[in-house]
Amino acid sequence: MLPLSLSILFAFSAVSIAQDTNVGEVRRAFTAAHVSETINFPFDPKVLLQVTYPQTDDARPITLQAGVHLPRNATLRLPIFNVVGSRSKGPFVVAAVDPDTPTPQEPTLAQVRHFLGGNFYMGSHTRPTLLSNSTPAISHYREPRPQAGSDPHRYIFLLFDQPSGFDEQSARLVQNDDDTSTANWNVSAFAAAAGLGQPVGGTFMFVAPDPTT
Ligand SMILES: *[C@@H]1O[C@H](CO)[C@@H](O)[C@H](O)[C@H]1NC(C)=O
Ligand SMILES: *[C@@H]1O[C@H](CO)[C@@H](O)[C@H](O)[C@H]1NC(C)=O
Repeated sequence: MLPLSLSILFAFSAVSIAQDTNVGEVRRAFTAAHVSETINFPFDPKVLLQVTYPQTDDARPITLQAGVHLPRNATLRLPIFNVVGSRSKGPFVVAAVDPDTPTPQEPTLAQVRHFLGGNFYMGSHTRPTLLSNSTPAISHYREPRPQAGSDPHRYIFLLFDQPSGFDEQSARLVQNDDDTSTANWNVSAFAAAAGLGQPVGGTFMFVAPDPTT
């Protein structure tokens, strides 16, 4: 028998969503979901990218564990980003894509760009791992919107070290940020063209279409 206080602790931890604690777990989740093959990137993370969704009302924010399934309505607001284990304080680039549009089986519109931002720096001494950006996002956050009848889509977040000259390069490479121009994007081609190299961290989630009524 566990002491009562411990049982209560376990009961609470069972209902909250777990969080990744090391890059090995994240790498394994990427491999299990074939993320690297899909987005044409080797994935060898050096740091943990924590993506946290604020919730409405009094619900606690949800931090992704790589490969977690989330209800769509938990992913509507712009997430906040933390980086754990980095020697660099920035700048970083964060990108998010859906490689499964309209369906994972026939992703003819993929990838869809769901976020792209640069000039992210690690935070102050009170919140040392929190990223904040000193310039507006290049491509504002778009909530997941998998079409009815589709299997769940993967939504992949990637963190890159930002090279000098990125602002000019990204302005040249991403000229529009409307709904049509975010489809048929290619994050690895973008990364190559913008000199980003390979991601230093990342995570992903699955989101299913809203249940039809
Ligand atoms: C999401 O929808 C479910 C089912 O309708 C509901 O129980 C839950 O409270 C909603 N969550 C949020 C964050 O709105
Ligand atoms: C994306 O670009 C890479 C080159 O960086 C290429 O190998 C791959 O086929 C492209 N993917 C799609 C879906 O066009």
